Amino acid sequence: MSSYQTAIEYVSQTLQKLSEQGVEMSCAAASLARLGPVSEAESLRVKEEAPVEEALVPRVAASPVLPEAHRPQTVPEQRPVPKAKPEMGGDKSARLEALRGPVLSCSLCPHLVASRTHVVFGVGNPDADLMFVGEAPGEDEDLQGEPFVGKAGQLLTKIIEAMGFQRSEVYIANVLKCRPDMPGGGPGNRKPKASEMSTCLPYLKEQIAIIRPKALVALGATAMEGLLGETQPMARLRGRWHQLEGTPVMATYHPAYLLRNQSLTEKRKVWEDMLLVLEKLALPISEKQRQYFLNKA
Ligand code: URA
Repeated sequence: MSSYQTAIEYVSQTLQKLSEQGVEMSCAAASLARLGPVSEAESLRVKEEAPVEEALVPRVAASPVLPEAHRPQTVPEQRPVPKAKPEMGGDKSARLEALRGPVLSCSLCPHLVASRTHVVFGVGNPDADLMFVGEAPGEDEDLQGEPFVGKAGQLLTKIIEAMGFQRSEVYIANVLKCRPDMPGGGPGNRKPKASEMSTCLPYLKEQIAIIRPKALVALGATAMEGLLGETQPMARLRGRWHQLEGTPVMATYHPAYLLRNQSLTEKRKVWEDMLLVLEKLALPISEKQRQYFLNKA
């Protein structure tokens, strides 16, 4: 008897037992009866050697890559963060996908679970040399399920492009994966608490361990605090390299700061930090790039 037939037999017997216990099974039984005859070709689709339990588990076709916001946001159980070890095998993309499930179903901060629309995992090239890290999703990111898509995100995209990258060539994530809740579910943003960031940090560290970028850019003092526990003002942190477990980290102002403070002097500071990043990545810098935000009154 093939595994398929064994499986049908098994389900049949179970239904029979339930029916004997008085459970109404007419609909299921009728459906099963229709399944009964199975062609040779169909029965061959079920691996002969597979145990019944395995044969009954639906095969999941390779899932299409859905836009972030349309990916399922919940998975049934809370699993520990899978450790990214080289011997785990699989490419970076598969390892990030394996991490996505536990992150999307995380319930470690119940107040954030209650208020969030989406968990914002991260986006971009799993093999990126350069990774940008912000503090936490804002309202737009929470709604769309993607980091840095609001006004600050649009400015970040311009900075990335001015550096000579497409947004899709780098990786972008936040220390905190859920939007910090606002009183009464109101608009605006609040700074993530240190406890929220330390709870969520293992997920980001795992993303970094998988992607293994050559450089990280921490956007804003809060990201620096979440990543490295640094509490100095950005004016003291920016423009020099820090280290996170062996990965160089450049600190710079958050793009939202540049939106609030449109002066060329502040823009130039961020740009100088990005020039240091390009140098670290050993990428060519054009004369035009060197001159950005200089000599413009
Ligand atoms: N600010 C952040 O720090 N992260 C985002 O994703 C958006 C705004």
